[in-house]
Amino acid sequence: MYPNQRNRRLRQSHAIRRLVSENQLTCNDLMLPLFIAEGTKVKEPIEAMPGCFRLSLDLLQKELKSIADLGIKAVLLFVKVDDALKDNKGTEAVNPEGLMQKAIRKVKSITPQIVVMTDVALDPYSSYGHDGIVEDAKILNDSTVEVLSKMALSHALAGADFVAPSDMMDGRVLRIRTELDQAGFTDTGIMSYSAKYASSLYGPFREALDSSPGFGDKRSYQMDPANRLEALTETLRDIEEGADIVMIKPGLAYLDIIRDIRENVEVPIAAYQVSGEYAMLKAAAEKGWLDHDTVMMEQMLAFKRAGANLIATYHAKEVAQLLA
Ligand code: PBG
Repeated sequence: MYPNQRNRRLRQSHAIRRLVSENQLTCNDLMLPLFIAEGTKVKEPIEAMPGCFRLSLDLLQKELKSIADLGIKAVLLFVKVDDALKDNKGTEAVNPEGLMQKAIRKVKSITPQIVVMTDVALDPYSSYGHDGIVEDAKILNDSTVEVLSKMALSHALAGADFVAPSDMMDGRVLRIRTELDQAGFTDTGIMSYSAKYASSLYGPFREALDSSPGFGDKRSYQMDPANRLEALTETLRDIEEGADIVMIKPGLAYLDIIRDIRENVEVPIAAYQVSGEYAMLKAAAEKGWLDHDTVMMEQMLAFKRAGANLIATYHAKEVAQLLA
């Protein structure tokens, strides 16, 4: 009690503050999402994500070198698929010569030390823009899970270190784990998007991949933002089914969920700071309303404090630069 205790004693100087700081951010915490496009010499800016581009495979060399030099340890791969290759079966998603499979091989050949995590979901491949196979305007669960398991295996065959199912179908982690194990890929990890909410913050990402749902929305598979206990149920099931890392998404608006899960599971937790969150800070900074770098670092620390071990963020390079 005051005056015996004066909390400000521990805040007097930079050095003291550092000594007693409870959380640290390092570049080991960061994962950078990368958007890949068909073609050569393609570097297309994504309008609502200033500083992010869709890159063709031939431009990856330079990008990966800068990522590795900054000390970033992992990338999440996403591909933009030509409309002509989209259907309702995920045919292109399992093509061993598809853009994702080529991208995985390319990244592993340029920077074998970087951990490659791949998005496993049908939306970029779907003529309906949904994460699953559609029948009578419904998203089918079990037949989608079958395709996802083949898709995950094709990523493993191409050299992915982790597959990251982002679709929210029931039972997909178990089905993927089984498929990988049967093919001998017992060391390929699964980072599951365990608590993924039906969020409007994915807008800029869907623009980047041209993957918006053609009808309806994703609320029959992604979670209701009103729910908290359900996030724990989803996450515990994914761990039982074989998830090595669990992810919560979006990030900042769901810090309570990260904390809930941190208190109930022992596996590493990832937070995904999504495209809309990135867009908001970029826009405010552009207007001069917020200081970009300090707000960005404060947000990173908030993820750590909430209990995230890993952070997937489009800011990864900027953060690593500031940390260096
Ligand atoms: C694909 C997927 C999405 C995101 C990551 N994987 C879009 C969606 O579910 O609609 C969103 C990422 C972001 O907004 O940054 N299923």
